[in-house]
Amino acid sequence: MKIPKKIGVLTSGGDAPGMNAAIRAVVRSCTYYNLECVGVYRGLQGLIEGDFEDLNARSVKNIINRGGTFLKSARSKDFLTFEGRKKAFNNLQNENIDALVVIGGDGTFAGASVFIKEFNFPIVGIPGTIDNDINGTDYTIGYDTALNTAVEAIDKIRDTANSHNRLFLVEVMGRDAGDIALNAGIAAGAEEILIPEQNLGRERLLESLSRSKKSGKTSSIVVVCEGDQIGKNIFGLAEYIEENLKEYEVRVTVLGHIQRGGSPSCYDRVLASRLGVGAVDALLRGETNIMIGIVHNRVTSVPFSEAIKGSNEIDEELIRVADIISI
Ligand code: F6P
Repeated sequence: MKIPKKIGVLTSGGDAPGMNAAIRAVVRSCTYYNLECVGVYRGLQGLIEGDFEDLNARSVKNIINRGGTFLKSARSKDFLTFEGRKKAFNNLQNENIDALVVIGGDGTFAGASVFIKEFNFPIVGIPGTIDNDINGTDYTIGYDTALNTAVEAIDKIRDTANSHNRLFLVEVMGRDAGDIALNAGIAAGAEEILIPEQNLGRERLLESLSRSKKSGKTSSIVVVCEGDQIGKNIFGLAEYIEENLKEYEVRVTVLGHIQRGGSPSCYDRVLASRLGVGAVDALLRGETNIMIGIVHNRVTSVPFSEAIKGSNEIDEELIRVADIISI
């Protein structure tokens, strides 16, 4: 592979706090190595539409602390077609871009992987998603911030739950992965945590709630991951609990996209900066078709094919801790 002189950078898929910090690190690494850098707006869709802008070290000032992504993001349907990807390739050639850094989740990496095979174009990925559902990295950019947002919100819900002796079902994000639910649930002292990796079912939840009541608890918080089967219809679940456990008055809060916004935590800013520098380093070493991640606090890499396998292993130790401390 020829060593790149001009690198493009984009953010794709659901945005995540810390994406700006990652873009900044990529742009500034390019400046450091005397490479040109081009920002691609609106992710893979912007690649197809040729929505490019030259970036330099000063273009990314004052963004390390900002949520969202200044390059904007999109979930591109056109990139799923060969015609779309061909247009993207032509635009890259016309712009003399030799390599890309893509910041996103498994959908982004799957698209990048197909593109590399079709056009032999060098791409390195950085995991950016609040879900923390990428294989080959302990953490994804945005996850820590989203977790803290969720915990802060659940703490507030606890105040009102407690004042009214109510049960709250709090839905947190996580399309297929329960990482936010499990960790926020432990940190906020939830009585029960429903995650897709377990799918424990409604009866078990009723048993546990009735045990909680008998043990003297007056209010309760159940954290429900959006991807959990019984949580999929959270309002239906609330009705089911009220019908079967008359002693409970239930309310529902769906935290939703609030978890995707906000100023990135210190952890996410540092992680994003390390992975951004790591991605440019990898391209300069001639590497491609890989994602840069963090494992045991060391910057590392895995092939895209590994990264997109997803990480839905249950952390048994965390589940045990959650069970014990919610007694
Ligand atoms: O992938 C991150 C995520 O926030 C998931 O937790 C959620 O299921 C999904 O994106 C929502 O996507 P959108 O913002 O496109 O509705």
